[in-house]
Amino acid sequence: MEETAKLPATILVIFGITGDLSHRFLLPALAQVCSTSNLPKDFKVLGVSRRDVNVDELLRDNEKPLQKFTKIFQMNLNDPQDYKDLEARLTEMTQEMTISPQIIFYFAVPPAAVLPIIRHLGQAGLNGPETKLLLEKPFGFDLESARELIAQTTQYFPEEQIYRIDHYLAKEMAQNITVFLGSNAIFRDVWNSQFVEKIEIVAAEKIGIEGRAAFYESTGALRDVVQSHLLQLAALTLMEPCSEIFDFEEIPRRRLAALRQLQPPPPDKFDDFVFRAQYEGYSDEVGNPGSQVETFVNLVLSSTDARWQGVPIHLTTGKNLDQKLTEIKVTFKKTSASAANHLLIRIQPEESIELDLWVKAPGYDRKLQKLPLSFEYQQHFGRLPDAYEQVLVDAMSSNHALFASSDEVLASWSALEPILKHWGMHEDLYFYKPGSMVDEVLSVKSDQNQL
Ligand code: BG6
Repeated sequence: MEETAKLPATILVIFGITGDLSHRFLLPALAQVCSTSNLPKDFKVLGVSRRDVNVDELLRDNEKPLQKFTKIFQMNLNDPQDYKDLEARLTEMTQEMTISPQIIFYFAVPPAAVLPIIRHLGQAGLNGPETKLLLEKPFGFDLESARELIAQTTQYFPEEQIYRIDHYLAKEMAQNITVFLGSNAIFRDVWNSQFVEKIEIVAAEKIGIEGRAAFYESTGALRDVVQSHLLQLAALTLMEPCSEIFDFEEIPRRRLAALRQLQPPPPDKFDDFVFRAQYEGYSDEVGNPGSQVETFVNLVLSSTDARWQGVPIHLTTGKNLDQKLTEIKVTFKKTSASAANHLLIRIQPEESIELDLWVKAPGYDRKLQKLPLSFEYQQHFGRLPDAYEQVLVDAMSSNHALFASSDEVLASWSALEPILKHWGMHEDLYFYKPGSMVDEVLSVKSDQNQL
């Protein structure tokens, strides 16, 4: 990552520093930002834990450079007195710093623990203008609970102090979507229903639920990945590209407008346009025979935006598939019986952009042939920053553009609400073999209906 503008003095408080989230995402990202000298000059980490932890044992080899910034604070997260002690400790740390720091609270704790901690922080007066919340999803369970969560959180922390992570927004290729569309006139002018036939967004995963049985049983693929990551990728694809390409501050407003225009299919079309499935062996894995939780979803949405009238937007995600792949495929309208162009924006892995072009194949037969025009990001730019590195830097520098606002969270839940209600009343789950390809899972529906 290139040198960023100097970041303000910061104390990063990590609730649950010994937890899975912190080990998988936060600490490695922090170590990476540290290795490129992009941490603030005045920087400290206070890891909050229930038990006494040795920092040296906590950090993996490549995270050791963090040791000099990191201290542990042992506390009971349910005890109001401990928050008073936390406040005293933070005051002490602040006094040791040359410049008065901002305090960022990051939550690497189970979803149910988040709101109680926020309440305690507020009640202990740890919600001054110098504080920020860096929150992980899930942001609610449905529209109603999201409203409630947002209302309760903003009772203590105003929206400007809240940073809701959707790490897909911070992926390098996701950030590139609007820049790529806005700065290449050849796409800007055809980015509408007059030229685009359909949009397909896929986030396939090779991993299963990785031992997160309780979490996944109360979540499922629609809530876990579609409500956040896939709808945000759809919003970035459908929103009006920014003409000032790096006018990132403009992006959240446009994403929100795009999210608000996304529509689920009409209920009488759910059989055709809403599909959910579960990989074989899932119910044994979670110890819940008969579980109706989906590990695969395919939806066809539409947009009320005049620009996208009649263009189907296919969203697909699933676990335990044959490969890890996130990509946006835009199919343009055919110019003749055989020639449609495709634009493929590969979000991960091997970030790339590919445009299929039709050419005349050499020879006497007058045949058309499809050839790719493509480039891979890493070939040109080397290592790309991980989304969590971007998230940390942006939260520290008060840049909200790559975080989900409360309005975006509500707009996403609204778009999915009819589907969640329908699923609550119907048992229409299909099953697929672990390791299947996306198309194989999609064909399960017609195969099983024919049995
Ligand atoms: C998380 C989901 O938000 O995203 C996980 O909770 C999923 O279930 C993960 O595996 C995928 O993220 P990435 O960056 O590996 O594609």
